[in-house]
Amino acid sequence: MTQITLLTPDDWHLHFRDGDMLQETVPATARLFQRAIVMPNLLPPVTDAKMVNAYRERILAARPQGSSFEPLMTLFLTNDTTKQDIIDAKAAGVVAAKLYPAGATTNSDAAVKALDSLFPIFEKMAEIGMLLLVHGEVTESHIDIFDREAIFIERNLTRIVDVFPSLKVVFEHITTKEAAEFVASTSDNVAATITPQHLLLNRNDLLVGGIRPHNFCLPVLKRNIHQQALRAAVATGSNKFFLGTDSAPHEKHRKESACGCAGCYSAWGALELYAQVFDDLGVIDKLEGFASTHGPDFYGLPRNTSTLTLIKETWTVPSEIILPNGKPIVPFFAGEEVNWKVKG
Ligand code: NCD
Ligand code: ZN
Ligand code: ZN
Repeated sequence: MTQITLLTPDDWHLHFRDGDMLQETVPATARLFQRAIVMPNLLPPVTDAKMVNAYRERILAARPQGSSFEPLMTLFLTNDTTKQDIIDAKAAGVVAAKLYPAGATTNSDAAVKALDSLFPIFEKMAEIGMLLLVHGEVTESHIDIFDREAIFIERNLTRIVDVFPSLKVVFEHITTKEAAEFVASTSDNVAATITPQHLLLNRNDLLVGGIRPHNFCLPVLKRNIHQQALRAAVATGSNKFFLGTDSAPHEKHRKESACGCAGCYSAWGALELYAQVFDDLGVIDKLEGFASTHGPDFYGLPRNTSTLTLIKETWTVPSEIILPNGKPIVPFFAGEEVNWKVKG
């Protein structure tokens, strides 16, 4: 196949950041995606309806002229989140709340330290139909970084799913065989997003021949058996897995640093890279489910009605993009060839 037409896709997990960075990130995503689940890990984090409304306005103001792109807003859970915060957020159009274990990832210091104390909040979310999005890694310093996702499932996720069977949970950016198996075998109210980098790469791509900071993200890339398990999971066409790029920009100097930030800025090539993966797996016919229908169906939102066409044509991801503040950022897959391209 050399061409494929899909219902317009949505991105079910990304980071737009704030301020003048929005001038870069919002158009980059609005180019191809109709909607995106916008992560709330700003500094300070987006913790109430008022902050959500203000952030949504800043995103809408950064859309290109004539764009109908729609940001889907999320709330950042802390140990101070109240049931009223959840009710007010729902009224403000928030579709999901995000659980970050404190210290698990970028800008998560203000996040959740005592998981069980949030159970009344999860109960309220289940009751009013707000989804729970989870960064699934334990954070204890003695636990090996490569084991943190699998241990989170055992210790925390299984329990949340058991106690709140009607709560819809998205296990974000899964990276392991254990996660893929858990999602496939558990309740229909649990789904997962998968990033392009975790389908395309494994930890050799981070560490062999020198450290490659632009492939560093969290959860960190795992060994190749995990990459294979994620590829196998999407190849099944199961509606429990859907597109979430986790596009997470950091300026070049913050990635190429003695203590480099985690996150890959993939917005410019993500859809095309997913197409490449599905094509390599011989399941390009499964791309539309992953990119365009499984997500809205799980969230209980309408599917998009417009379409987008990808053609098999080679192009090269730019080596750098200049941000509105004049500083460079290195996009994910910089300087590498991609063999699918969006038509027009
Ligand atoms: C994300 C970021 O930079 O905000 N980084 C990442 O490596 N994925 C945070 C996150 O999604 O965990
Ligand atoms: Zn995360
Ligand atoms: Zn993320």
